[in-house]
Amino acid sequence: MTNETLALISSRRSHRAYTAAPLTQEQQDAILRAAVEAPSAVNRQLWHFSVVTNQALLDEINAATRENVMKRAPEQRSPRFADSQFHVFYHAPTVIFLSAQPGSVYAPIDCGIAVENIALAAESLGLGSVILGMPREAFQTERADALRRALQFPEGYDFVIAIAVGVPADTKDAHPVGEGKISFVD
Ligand SMILES: Cc1cc2nc3c(=O)[nH]c(=O)nc-3n(C[C@H](O)[C@H](O)[C@H](O)COP(=O)(O)O)c2cc1C
Repeated sequence: MTNETLALISSRRSHRAYTAAPLTQEQQDAILRAAVEAPSAVNRQLWHFSVVTNQALLDEINAATRENVMKRAPEQRSPRFADSQFHVFYHAPTVIFLSAQPGSVYAPIDCGIAVENIALAAESLGLGSVILGMPREAFQTERADALRRALQFPEGYDFVIAIAVGVPADTKDAHPVGEGKISFVD
């Protein structure tokens, strides 16, 4: 069985290369509407969305991420960092950061749901995206407070997840689906 929604879910991929084309205002508005329309526990909406098109700021967060990752032994870091040109935001024209108050049980789950809404909204508009956990490394450095301020996180909020969005410049197969992930309990 399939329908438009199921086909859209199936067609989404993580894109790791983008053209320089910026999102249109209509695309950005539609994506953010999908974000805030996500369900949240008790409808508390304990999230904040920082929409970043400033490439210099993204470069700064990329540098802080790399700085923190490189403190670890090579076998304890993603092999992607072996390439000095690797950029955690893949030069996407827009990156949306989701922040929330640490300690809330449901806020990270709410942010996870909202970020998938963003990914699916982007896909529906012919755009690509990739959800990004790696930039959390930047918020474990001495630059963390300055970055939180630059990203306009509300007071006491910290990084939860980010998502890069843009016109994809790559293609990718669907990810292999793991075995034994579903139990049918009668
Ligand atoms: C919570 C989360 C964090 C992720 N962080 C990163 C990341 O930092 N960098 C990256 O390139 N991909 C990241 N991904 C993308 C996953 O690698 C990707 O979703 C997975 O390999 C499946 O591929 P697909 O999205 O194309 O189906 C993340 C995905 C999730 C859900």
